Amino acid sequence: MASNWSTDEIQDLSGSTIVVTGANSGLGYEASKEFARKGGHVVMACRSIDRGENAAEEIREELPSASLSVHECDLADLDSIRSFAEEFSSTYSSLHILCNNAGVMAIPRSETEQGFETQFGVNHLGHFALTGLLLDSLIETGGGSIINVSSIWGIVGSDSSTAFNSSASRSFHDSFRPPKMRATRTGPISAATASNARRWLAITEVTPPRLRW
Ligand SMILES: NC(=O)c1ccc[n+]([C@@H]2O[C@H](COP(=O)([O-])OP(=O)(O)OC[C@H]3O[C@@H](n4cnc5c(N)ncnc54)[C@H](OP(=O)(O)O)[C@@H]3O)[C@@H](O)[C@H]2O)c1
Repeated sequence: MASNWSTDEIQDLSGSTIVVTGANSGLGYEASKEFARKGGHVVMACRSIDRGENAAEEIREELPSASLSVHECDLADLDSIRSFAEEFSSTYSSLHILCNNAGVMAIPRSETEQGFETQFGVNHLGHFALTGLLLDSLIETGGGSIINVSSIWGIVGSDSSTAFNSSASRSFHDSFRPPKMRATRTGPISAATASNARRWLAITEVTPPRLRW
């Protein structure tokens, strides 16, 4: 991305459906607002409906015509992710952009509902599961995009001693290309990517202990 890039360069998104995780604050909030400003319908996937509705209201104050809907999606719980995906698929017939944005960082040790370390579970596994569950919608829409919001630390993550490069997470990470991601916009999703994602989704749901360190 050019260093002088601005949101003015976002194309017209009229007719597009866009899912943003962690849409109620920070980058997710700003991304939701800009997607809405360009005419897209933004599905704000938040772990708290109240915080999501408050954020949607703030966006509507600035952009009265914004098309927004708030849905519950707790990325620390695979059941919540599945419920969100089912609700999405039964409500919307297309998905043009999936913006995997929500994240936590350097939090005290805790575990997700299914027993994964929370930061890895929310930032990576949760989004991986969500992506796998929404892949059919993206593929059927044709030319759908996935935006994975990550960190500049991904650039320096080549040291084999880092947790991110443990064998489990590296394999997981490799299944989403390119291997070093920051804010990565994928091209049209290939069948191979879809197949990898489904395989990993099955692994994360069936054998959580294999992914623990
Ligand atoms: N800002 C930076 O400098 C920076 C640097 C590197 C990477 N990043 C990455 O950029 C992304 C956005 O960061 P930010 O600075 O905008 O963070 P933020 O303001 O703290 O927002 C994080 C969002 O994620 C949501 N979230 C947390 N846990 C969740 C869960 N279990 N399920 C669903 N949503 C959850 C939060 O919801 P609640 O409001 O309910 O907590 C919040 O909406 C993150 O992935 C972060 O790792 C940011």
